[in-house]
Amino acid sequence: MARFSGKGFVVTGGASGIGEATTRSLVAQGGKVVIADVQEDLAVALVDELGDSVIFQKMDVTNEQEIVAAIDLAVAEFGQLDGMVNNAGIIGVIGSIMDTSAEDYDFTMSILSRGVFLGIKHAGRAMKPNGAGAIVSLASTAGVKGAEGPHVYTMAKHGVVGLTKSAASEFSAFGVRVNAVAPGGTVTPMTSALTDNNAELIAAGIAAASPLGFACLPQDIANGILFLLSEEARYITGHTLVIDAGLTSGGIAPPFYSQDAEVMLHAGQRRDGAD
Ligand SMILES: NC(=O)c1ccc[n+]([C@@H]2O[C@H](COP(=O)([O-])OP(=O)(O)OC[C@H]3O[C@@H](n4cnc5c(N)ncnc54)[C@H](O)[C@@H]3O)[C@@H](O)[C@H]2O)c1
Repeated sequence: MARFSGKGFVVTGGASGIGEATTRSLVAQGGKVVIADVQEDLAVALVDELGDSVIFQKMDVTNEQEIVAAIDLAVAEFGQLDGMVNNAGIIGVIGSIMDTSAEDYDFTMSILSRGVFLGIKHAGRAMKPNGAGAIVSLASTAGVKGAEGPHVYTMAKHGVVGLTKSAASEFSAFGVRVNAVAPGGTVTPMTSALTDNNAELIAAGIAAASPLGFACLPQDIANGILFLLSEEARYITGHTLVIDAGLTSGGIAPPFYSQDAEVMLHAGQRRDGAD
């Protein structure tokens, strides 16, 4: 039997980038998905391609009624909500804090923070009666470290990591797991927009900064999301899975990890007056 056979999911922002890869993977492994997105054209094309296993619900994650409608649709069509992926996002306002308007702050936080809050809130409501379910939200390396993204984005993503922990602590009482995934730079339309939609250029930049030396693709992140949604992760909750080729845990190796370390040691001894 396929890994997600008979299971129903909502993927916010499921029409593009990481959300699209997640939708495709869930369907390929037997799942059924409500794509909850503001982007109609991409979503409709994906539904045409993937067929009956996906439904498009046009919605905005900042609107509570529209989140409820997407989840209720999944319950009505699939029997129950087994997994919720709070993925919809934008880069939002960039620049100095000193130049950031309160309005731009509110707009960015409404999608990246309020949208995830509402998704966790209503997924929990739908899953509680079943005593089972898994929620995965998209944080970022900007959610675990400074200077990985714009200021308001960083604030929102740290909030996703925090809410993941507190919601996990409440929801574990009724068998619902709450986790997050924190990608580093990944080649998607969101990041390509930073280079005038030049995906090759953004891929080269991500590869150059990566300790593993190649660019992260949406499928690399979808693989982590599917693991956390799956039964293989049944004992994992409140966790943020960082997927960044080790960038935030250490980064590219410094010279003293190389063969030259021996040389540096002896150089140090000589400076200390040792043999
Ligand atoms: N690409 C990266 O480098 C990267 C790194 C870390 C985290 N992330 C996070 O991953 C998630 C997906 O990003 P992506 O890179 O795949 O971007 P993307 O632009 O390819 O996809 C984002 C999707 O979210 C949808 N969306 C945006 N605002 C919405 C709203 N208000 N309501 C409903 N849908 C909305 C868009 O229409 C789009 O389909 C985001 O939360 C992002 O912050 C991305």
